[in-house]
Amino acid sequence: MEAERGDRDLLEDASGVVSAVLAEVVQPTTSVILLTDGTSSASAIAKVLRRVAAPYGVGVFQAVPENGIGNSTRDRFSEVIRQARKERLMSWNVCVVLVSEDPAFLTTFADVALRGRLLVWATKLLLVTSVALQELRAFLGSRWVFSMMNAVVMVLQMEGLLQKWDMYSHLPYSPAGPQLVSVATWTPAEGLRIKSGHGLFPEKFWNFYGATVNVTALPFPPYWSVLEEPSASSPGRYSGTDFLLLEATAEALNFTFRVVPTETWTEVADRVVERVAFLSPIFHNVLPARLERYEFSFVYEFGSLDFSRAKPDLQPQWQSLYYPLSHAVWLGVLATVVVILRAMRSRDATGHAPPTSPLTLGKALQEVFGLFLGQNLSRVFYSSVRARVLVGAWLVFSLVVGTAYRGNLTASLTLPVYPSRPETLAQLVLVADRITMPSYGAEFKSFFGKSDSPVFKRLSELMHIVSSVEEGQRQAILAK
Ligand SMILES: *[C@@H]1O[C@H](CO)[C@@H](O)[C@H](O)[C@H]1NC(C)=O
Ligand SMILES: *[C@@H]1O[C@H](CO)[C@@H](O)[C@H](O)[C@H]1NC(C)=O
Ligand SMILES: *[C@@H]1O[C@H](CO)[C@@H](O)[C@H](O)[C@H]1NC(C)=O
Repeated sequence: MEAERGDRDLLEDASGVVSAVLAEVVQPTTSVILLTDGTSSASAIAKVLRRVAAPYGVGVFQAVPENGIGNSTRDRFSEVIRQARKERLMSWNVCVVLVSEDPAFLTTFADVALRGRLLVWATKLLLVTSVALQELRAFLGSRWVFSMMNAVVMVLQMEGLLQKWDMYSHLPYSPAGPQLVSVATWTPAEGLRIKSGHGLFPEKFWNFYGATVNVTALPFPPYWSVLEEPSASSPGRYSGTDFLLLEATAEALNFTFRVVPTETWTEVADRVVERVAFLSPIFHNVLPARLERYEFSFVYEFGSLDFSRAKPDLQPQWQSLYYPLSHAVWLGVLATVVVILRAMRSRDATGHAPPTSPLTLGKALQEVFGLFLGQNLSRVFYSSVRARVLVGAWLVFSLVVGTAYRGNLTASLTLPVYPSRPETLAQLVLVADRITMPSYGAEFKSFFGKSDSPVFKRLSELMHIVSSVEEGQRQAILAK
């Protein structure tokens, strides 16, 4: 293979420049991923491994294209990228060195690495190549991993027998628009010379120079509220904490933003994945299913999940007569009434009452309940001491109970008592028939469903996805 490509081994030539650049950027926790297209010889790889400083180790990956780049090559590439990404996830910070002279290989790498999320901004990418700059220029600008990520391209120029490496970085935003800037040169004699102005790995997003950045968002108070729908004549007006955060960021980084219209939360995320929009400024909980799709970098807000229920109805009116006293008190009063009625009747039976007004059961009931309602006793002559004591005791009893009842009744009518409500998730899943969540809740439903906790499992079973929070609340009120 080396013979086919002449007697030059690009990686062998690059060992000096690569080690010089790495020495410049490596931190005590850096590891290096070396990715080649299979044209580098084992001795060249060994030479680089000897010379580069990578305190946390070097991973070497080869993705060898077979008869041009077809689907099977792409699949193999994806596997290599998947392994390399695993290494990146296990490392503190990573420098990826990509070595190839084959534009088709580089294009495929760019697409597969983007889909496989090999790079995040903290990952530095060094592309080592000898492809002519004119050929590279257009394609670097059109590939996200080279234009927008933290990438530097090293191009080998042979000046006679002398090597010279030029290093470039693509700046997507500058006063003159997107451009490729020269950041450094390296020659064996002079070593690494970093040009002033940009630094070796320029920061690309400190200043957008007034560019328009697409964002996606849907109403999600209090984070994002729409005050005025966008129309042909106006970009719309928004509010909310995340909107204010975006506005402050836009001012600091000198960009304006446009809200790309979307219908669902899935679209909100998809537009960002497609890079039609660069960000969705609404906070996004970390869920295992989302880790399959997104890299999470920084937590700026802790959000809790809360539930709301329809306010329960008050008890029907007739029941509020019963409410003021507890069950035990009512039972006690009932028992006392029965006892007192029996006692009165037996007094009647012993003939102590005046014969003119025989005390029937009806009359006795009247006497007993009359006192509760604040009526005085009928003018019955109670001759015996026993009868007077009995009636006296009843008077006191009915006064106390009657006053207590009237007081409690007034209080309970003024301050109605609502039935107790669920305050925790465990209580909620016991009483709720149905729990609704807007469209983004689908991921929560499946997440809760996978939990070992019976409470979360039950929550997942009860959850239904509806179009919006308001729709869910409307359904809760209707179902009450
Ligand atoms: C490669 O994959 C694409 C989409 O997955 C398919 O349309 C195409 O036919 C495949 N090509 C070959 C040569 O298998
Ligand atoms: C913001 O961008 C505009 C347009 O390119 C430019 O004129 C201005 O100087 C920039 N502001 C800052 C603070 O860099
Ligand atoms: C931003 O959105 C507009 C319209 O929604 C679209 O035409 C444009 O291509 C988008 N910009 C980028 C960089 O994708």
